[in-house]
Amino acid sequence: MSWENELGRGERFAFGANWRDFLRRFTPERLRQAEGSLRALLGRDDLCGLRLLDMGSGSGLFSLAARRLGAGVVSCDYDPDSVACAEGLRAALRPDDAPKPNPTDETGPTGWTVLRGSVLDREFLAGLGGFDVVYSWGVLHHTGDQWTALDNLCGCVAPGGLLAIALYNRQPFFTPLHTAMKHAACRWPLAGRLVIAPIYGLGVGALLAMADLLRGRNPLARHKTSGLPRGMSFWHDVRDWVGGWPFETSTPEQVFDFCRARGFALRGLRTVGGKSGCNEFVFERAARPPAAGDPPPCAFC
Ligand SMILES: C[S@@+](CC[C@H](N)C(=O)[O-])C[C@H]1O[C@@H](n2cnc3c(N)ncnc32)[C@H](O)[C@@H]1O
Repeated sequence: MSWENELGRGERFAFGANWRDFLRRFTPERLRQAEGSLRALLGRDDLCGLRLLDMGSGSGLFSLAARRLGAGVVSCDYDPDSVACAEGLRAALRPDDAPKPNPTDETGPTGWTVLRGSVLDREFLAGLGGFDVVYSWGVLHHTGDQWTALDNLCGCVAPGGLLAIALYNRQPFFTPLHTAMKHAACRWPLAGRLVIAPIYGLGVGALLAMADLLRGRNPLARHKTSGLPRGMSFWHDVRDWVGGWPFETSTPEQVFDFCRARGFALRGLRTVGGKSGCNEFVFERAARPPAAGDPPPCAFC
């Protein structure tokens, strides 16, 4: 089924429209936070000389951040509005990063290419070649088939390269409730936007404000640009969180086992400690593909 059909039938959230709105509140501080979050996740001060794939680039903020840190970037998203967001950022802030008609023609890790495509489309991915860093934050669980998406993405990492992903945590009690809420909000977008998102946002906002007050912090500071990690915005996150459909979840163990079986070693992990939210993983692909008879990679290194 095409993206337009899925959207029309209430089977897909309009992520790109939300990102377009988010970019109206773009500030240099959000960009600095995005750069900081990339540096912290990848454990590097810069990305000079590396080729990075930003799969499910959304607003394009992290592609821009990676570009500013020195990487040659390919941004990719399935939602045409998200693609337009990345193209708009590039035109406005990196006008010299001329579009590359075919990213595999690049002579080196320079430039910023923005493409429309799906992580579920193996033929499309095969045309992109291998990357030193594959970054996909909060994306695979919104594709409708997160394990196929992860399998495909593993194939985009060059030997010795990094795979940095964030996937929604599975909770035995809350996951079925969240799943039902999201499906309803996506099927009836007006109710989702005017009823479910405000109720959910106010509830979460009140809990966060109480936590801030108990710690002696100003609860309003969270809603300024520096209030959320990764340069995000509270209300756009709420809308994305309430409506974000398709939706799947996973446990850290499932993701670890899945990637390990494909020759990846865990290099970084930040879980949400059993709460709602995304677990972050950084895996490194073995410098050569595992061969028959190799001992399994050590689980602790
Ligand atoms: C929650 S947003 C995350 C955006 C961005 N990675 C970030 O961290 O801000 C999820 C993005 O994944 C994109 N997406 C969903 N399904 C996809 C697919 N099959 N292939 C590529 N992108 C997809 C959506 O269009 C959306 O822009």
